[in-house]
Amino acid sequence: MPDSCCGGTCYDEAFDPRLAQRELRAFRRNGPGRASQALADALASGGTEGLTVLDIGGGVGAIHEQLLERGAARAVDVDASRAYLEAAREEAVHRGWPTG
Ligand SMILES: C[S@@+](CC[C@H](N)C(=O)[O-])C[C@H]1O[C@@H](n2cnc3c(N)ncnc32)[C@H](O)[C@@H]1O
Repeated sequence: MPDSCCGGTCYDEAFDPRLAQRELRAFRRNGPGRASQALADALASGGTEGLTVLDIGGGVGAIHEQLLERGAARAVDVDASRAYLEAAREEAVHRGWPTG
């Protein structure tokens, strides 16, 4: 994977493993935040059955996990931070989804 720096921003530093793991713990404890919940609800209102979700900047996976739980067939997570990609993968495994 290429390094995560772009235009002076290093995403692996701004969104580091400590932050990613803290957010993953909070997500497991409290569920999605209000904005993530609202976005997932809006996306799901048109139906999710069988769809592929492209989650850009997916963080720990709060939005695509909800859409998968509501019938989406698969999710592709694109994130500039390796720590957040890893946290989202960890969550997918935790929930028993097949990961590629
Ligand atoms: C606030 S968090 C995730 C929010 C998530 N969508 C949610 O609702 O829970 C922002 C995420 O976007 C990622 N990100 C920020 N800028 C990005 C970019 N230019 N391309 C891809 N991912 C980016 C960060 O690494 C971080 O994981």
